[in-house]
Amino acid sequence: MNKSKNMNKKRVGIIGSGPSGLAQLRAFEAAKNAGLEVPEIVCFEKQSNWGGMWNYSWRTGVGKYEEPIHGSMYKYLWSNGPKECLEFSDYSFDEHFKKPISSYPPRPVLFDYIQGRIKKSKVRDYIRFDTTVRWVNFNDESKKFEVVLDDLKIDKTYTEEFDYLVVASGHFSTPNMPYFKGIEQFPGQVMHAHDFRGADPYKDQDLLIIGSSYSAEDIGVQCHKHGANSVTLSYRSNPIGVNWPDGIKEVPLLTHFEGDIAHFKDGTSGKFDAVIMCTGYQHKFPFLPDELRLKTKNNLYPNHLYKGVFFNNLPQLIYLGMQDQYYTFNMFDAQIL
Ligand SMILES: Cc1cc2nc3c(=O)[nH]c(=O)nc-3n(C[C@H](O)[C@H](O)[C@H](O)COP(=O)(O)OP(=O)(O)OC[C@H]3O[C@@H](n4cnc5c(N)ncnc54)[C@H](O)[C@@H]3O)c2cc1C
Ligand SMILES: NC(=O)c1ccc[n+]([C@@H]2O[C@H](COP(=O)([O-])OP(=O)(O)OC[C@H]3O[C@@H](n4cnc5c(N)ncnc54)[C@H](OP(=O)(O)O)[C@@H]3O)[C@@H](O)[C@H]2O)c1
Repeated sequence: MNKSKNMNKKRVGIIGSGPSGLAQLRAFEAAKNAGLEVPEIVCFEKQSNWGGMWNYSWRTGVGKYEEPIHGSMYKYLWSNGPKECLEFSDYSFDEHFKKPISSYPPRPVLFDYIQGRIKKSKVRDYIRFDTTVRWVNFNDESKKFEVVLDDLKIDKTYTEEFDYLVVASGHFSTPNMPYFKGIEQFPGQVMHAHDFRGADPYKDQDLLIIGSSYSAEDIGVQCHKHGANSVTLSYRSNPIGVNWPDGIKEVPLLTHFEGDIAHFKDGTSGKFDAVIMCTGYQHKFPFLPDELRLKTKNNLYPNHLYKGVFFNNLPQLIYLGMQDQYYTFNMFDAQIL
C-alpha cells in the first residue's frame, strides 16, 4: 500500500542549493514535519557544498571539474544591506549568534547564519553535490521534465524525470562584459567583477572601474582602502554621486582607449594600470531550451513570471530569486509560501 503510494508520488527537481534552493528544501522539510504529505525531492548542486554565492571560491574561470565558476564574491566582502532586511522570520540573528551583532556583517558571518537554520533540518540528504544540470526537455505527452545530469565526480551523464522543476540557479554569475574601442590594445589587466577576489593586487595602481552600482562602489572603495593610488568610476546613466574621499572620483562613460589612456564622454582622459568592469550580470540558463528559458534583465519585476515565480507558459516550471535583490533570504521564503 505504502509502496504504491510512494511510486505514485510526484517528483520535484530543484536546481541549485544556494539560499533560494535551500529555502525551498527547508519549506518541504517543514511541511513534512508538520505531517503533510510531500513529493519526492531531489536538489542538484554543481558545487561541492551548499550556500550558492556565499560558498566562497578562491578560484576564477573554471573549477576542479572544468565547470564555469559560480561565485562572484570576494574575500573581504561585507553585506551591503542591513542584516535586519534579510533576517529569516523563524530564525533570528540573535538566536543564531546568541548575542546581538552589527547590522552589516562580513561574508563568512552571513554564510554561518544561512547554514545555522538549514543544519537544524535533514535537507542535506536531498542534495546531490557535484552534479550539474546539463539540459532540460519538457515531454508534452508525459507532461514531465526530462533532466540530463552530469555526475562530475565520476564523469557520468544520466537522465531523470520530474513533474515539477524549480530553477534556483542564481543570476549573478555570468558577466555582462561590454566592449570599448581600443580595449584589446590596453596593456594592463582587464577583468569583470565576477573574477575579483581581493583588492591587494591594485595597491599603488591607477584603477578604472566601469559601472555605477553596488559592485562599482564596493570594489572601488575596497581598492582605495587597500592602497590603490587612484580609483576612477565611469558611469553610463548616473553617477553614484556621493562625497568621495580624495583618491576616488567619478567621470562619465568611457568612449575608447588609446594604449593605456582612457577617454571619457566629457572629453577628459586618464592613464590607467587596470580596468575592472562592474557592469552587472546576465540571467543565463544554458541548461534550458528556448521555450522554457526566462529572458529578462536584472529588475524587480521580471516578465513572464506569475507572482514573480511561476513560468506563465508552463506553471510546472518555477523560478526562485530571479528578481534584483534588495530583500534576499526572507524574499526567497516568501516566494515559496
Ligand atoms: C558580489 C555579490 C555580493 C552580494 N552581496 C549580498 C549581500 O550582502 N546581501 C544579500 O542579501 N545578498 C547579496 N548578494 C545576492 C546573492 O546573490 C543572494 O544573497 C543569494 O546568494 C541568491 O541566492 P540564490 O540561491 O538565488 O542564488 P545563488 O546563491 O547564486 O545560488 C545558485 C546555486 O545554483 C547552483 N547552480 C547554478 N547552475 C547550476 C546547474 N546548471 N546545475 C546545478 N547547480 C547549479 C550554483 O552552483 C549555486 O550554488 C550578492 C551577490 C553578489 C554577486
Ligand atoms: N558588498 C555587497 O554586498 C555587494 C557588493 C557587490 C555586489 N553586490 C550585489 O551584487 C548584485 C549585482 O550588482 P552589480 O553592481 O554587479 O550589478 P548591477 O546592479 O546590475 O549594476 C550594473 C552596472 O553596470 C552598468 N552597466 C551595464 N552595462 C554597461 C555598459 N555597457 N557600459 C557601462 N556601464 C554598464 C549599469 O549602468 P546603468 O545604470 O547605466 O544601467 C550599472 O551601473 C546586486 O544584488 C548587489 O547587491 C553586493
